[in-house]
Amino acid sequence: MSEEIKIGGKCPFAGDSVGGVAGSEPTTDQWWPNRLKVELLHQNAPQANPEDPDFDYAKAFSELDLAAVKQDIKALLTSSADWWPSDYGNYGPQMIRMAWHSAGTYRIADGRGGAGEAMQRFAPINSWWDNGNIDKSRRLLWPIKQKYGAAISWADLIVLTGNCSLEVMGFPTYGFAGGRIDAWEPDNLTYWGPEAWYGKKIEDAPRGPFEGHPDQMVNRDLRWTGEAGDDDYDLEAPLAASNSNLIYVDPEGSAKKGIPEDSAADIRITFGRMAMNDEETVALIAGGHAFGKSHGMTPPDQIGFAPEGAPMESQGLGWHNPRGKGNAEDTMTNGIEGSWTQNPTQWDNSYLENLFKFEWEQTRSPAGALQWTPVDKNAPRTPDAHLEGVDHPLMMMTSDIALKVDPAYRKICEKFLDDFDYFTDAFARAWYKLTHRDMGPKTRYLGPEVPQEDLIWQDPIPAVDFELVDSRDIAELKAKILGADVSVSQLAAVAWGAASTFRTSDKRGGADGARIRLAPMKDWPVNNPDDLAHVLGVLEGIKRDFDGAQSGNKKVSLADLIVLGGCAAVEKAAQDAGVTLEVPFTPGRNDATAEQTDEQTFRWLEPVSDGFRTSIATTSTTTSRRSRSSSTARPCWVSPRRSGLHWSAACGCSTSTPRAPTGSTACFTDRPGVLTNDFFVNLTSPDFEWKKVDDEGLTFTLDDRHSGETKFKATRCDLIFGANAQLRQLAEFYAQKGGHEKLVKDFAKAWHKVMMHDASTSEALGDDPAPAAGSAVRNASHAHTVDDSAPYGVSGRFSTCPGRGYASILLGSNFVIL
Ligand code: HEM
Repeated sequence: MSEEIKIGGKCPFAGDSVGGVAGSEPTTDQWWPNRLKVELLHQNAPQANPEDPDFDYAKAFSELDLAAVKQDIKALLTSSADWWPSDYGNYGPQMIRMAWHSAGTYRIADGRGGAGEAMQRFAPINSWWDNGNIDKSRRLLWPIKQKYGAAISWADLIVLTGNCSLEVMGFPTYGFAGGRIDAWEPDNLTYWGPEAWYGKKIEDAPRGPFEGHPDQMVNRDLRWTGEAGDDDYDLEAPLAASNSNLIYVDPEGSAKKGIPEDSAADIRITFGRMAMNDEETVALIAGGHAFGKSHGMTPPDQIGFAPEGAPMESQGLGWHNPRGKGNAEDTMTNGIEGSWTQNPTQWDNSYLENLFKFEWEQTRSPAGALQWTPVDKNAPRTPDAHLEGVDHPLMMMTSDIALKVDPAYRKICEKFLDDFDYFTDAFARAWYKLTHRDMGPKTRYLGPEVPQEDLIWQDPIPAVDFELVDSRDIAELKAKILGADVSVSQLAAVAWGAASTFRTSDKRGGADGARIRLAPMKDWPVNNPDDLAHVLGVLEGIKRDFDGAQSGNKKVSLADLIVLGGCAAVEKAAQDAGVTLEVPFTPGRNDATAEQTDEQTFRWLEPVSDGFRTSIATTSTTTSRRSRSSSTARPCWVSPRRSGLHWSAACGCSTSTPRAPTGSTACFTDRPGVLTNDFFVNLTSPDFEWKKVDDEGLTFTLDDRHSGETKFKATRCDLIFGANAQLRQLAEFYAQKGGHEKLVKDFAKAWHKVMMHDASTSEALGDDPAPAAGSAVRNASHAHTVDDSAPYGVSGRFSTCPGRGYASILLGSNFVIL
């Protein structure tokens, strides 16, 4: 018989209740708010995706009858449901707004945001004040999504519905491409700005849950420097939206002051950050506001919780409106009330005609928002969206009047007023760009409505029209490269420099196109222009000789040679460390021209920091500002890109002083040029101690504990692998017995992944087993599986040390999602 154990008469092994749930507060983040969020590298894990791993979206989409889908969408658009009646019997305008808001989060600086993954479905975006009632638009679309299932993603359906809406109202769209792959969880990586609630920083703000009212969430105080009109008036990079929880600018004017001139300044900055020029900006605003109306019948503080905080029975629908029916003629969305035109469901030029024909004066909506109405009481009126025989005065927002008062915008408006066809074409192209901007190269586009024309923002690369190198050629070329007057370190640095510009956020950059030889990439300090020119000269010579020796149509592109040089360098460095391996190489890249390269927008691909080459940008004010602001906002900031490759370089840069450029820190090895695990061995060795060199703790020395001799120098990017608990486990893993060979092999795999990240841009790439590439169809399926392909590993860190007059390859610090 077992003895009963009791303490104070109670069984010590039983509690009355189970306290705490998974992730309950205080969380590790709350204890240690500045910790490096390593887990952000594992976003969108395959476990979150209910599709089978071999699901091929491109194949499913290609089997879809797109015309039938469009027909169903158009039938829905011209219907009306009791639970959310359509304005003027047409859901088109609200669906255009849905598509615009889905795409309009895109910003060129880090390529984040945009329509690509339908992030509009998740918090925080689904609950931003500016996305009011877009939950209804998506819910109206659900039966169509349900009918076609996985063959059309939400992301594609949202943009397609925007197009259908324009079409049913008489607008000729420019084209549509499918190929967007839905995310299955919110994006926690994107930096949406510094504000928290009530305009305060997170640490100073009251804690939620909140209703999501504009006074709680919409503010702008912490993201701007200067005042409108000042020379230093600027928005923190990489942000594009002027206010938190808005997609673009405040319709009531900068800081709700109703000053059109100030609003114009905000619009130019915001739309510029979306990579739109003045003409595209005017086309989009004037084109969009030719349709629909604004809704402002109820004061915002009476509106219910945003979707993320809405009660269970609301089933994801938020912003309950207690007034009257809560919808139709009682609808409250943004707060401004009225329509811009007399025909809100018809494509015509009456938005601009009204804007210019009438003088406008400020007034207030029933919800209290600042808006404008014609001074002329005889101006045409706009029909009520629901009530027969009722009409209203026309409406403009401060941001609309801005187009009339800003001299440059005004000129464009006048041109559009004079030439409606020109305006129609400009809006069609700008809309196409807006909604496809983040899809990457055209080879990713799917479906029968993809226009033939190549556009500069698609970063075009000529199609491969020559025979590709075979395995014998590859072996010969590798031998030639290794026999030439270039070091393995130089080869690796150039291949890395070419490939690592790729960002999965908007799929720009990468080795394909060999744009590293063009401006602006060729002049970036991180690319070490002198070394780069030397390596490119050598490779161009090899290319000339090879192409010249062929009798048929066989050629090798410089883009392929750059990558092949990197592969050869890695193999040689591994061999010198006693590990024989073959780094996979897949030919099929081609070389783009300067005319095919938008120098202005490519400058955003300059690495803010690059742990691989131990560099932080110092030359460009924009990039150093980006670096500063990001690190200020997040002391342990994780990469601006989703590639997962650059993050270690950025973490820990919590200073406003840009650091020294490439090569100022030494390498953790006595064997430069050899692929060893010395980086991790030295980093984890108790025989050394690390000391700060500067007050800010940016650079360090590694001193021998016994002799006191300084052996190595390092940056924060290096030391994080020893300091962070999670990363230290990886460092120890690769420093332990068996770690060297494992590291070299993992490095080769990671290297290959980097080189193939942009594979979808190359038509001819085909026989690579890991990231599938080739036809557009395979490209989209690649996009679906690229992040699920394997768990993560560790890549090496090649570092050139020009300061010492020699080049070296170091293995170590960059942690890569394989
Ligand atoms: C300065 C930039 C812009 C501002 C400040 C702005 C602001 C607004 C606001 C406040 C509404 C009313 C929302 C509501 O209460 O229902 C609205 C509606 C609308 N906007 Fe914009 N907008 C801008 C640009 C655009 C662009 C670029 C497009 C599309 C190309 C667009 C398309 C529309 C449409 C179609 C509606 C009507 C929605 C409906 O009828 O339900 N807007 N906009």
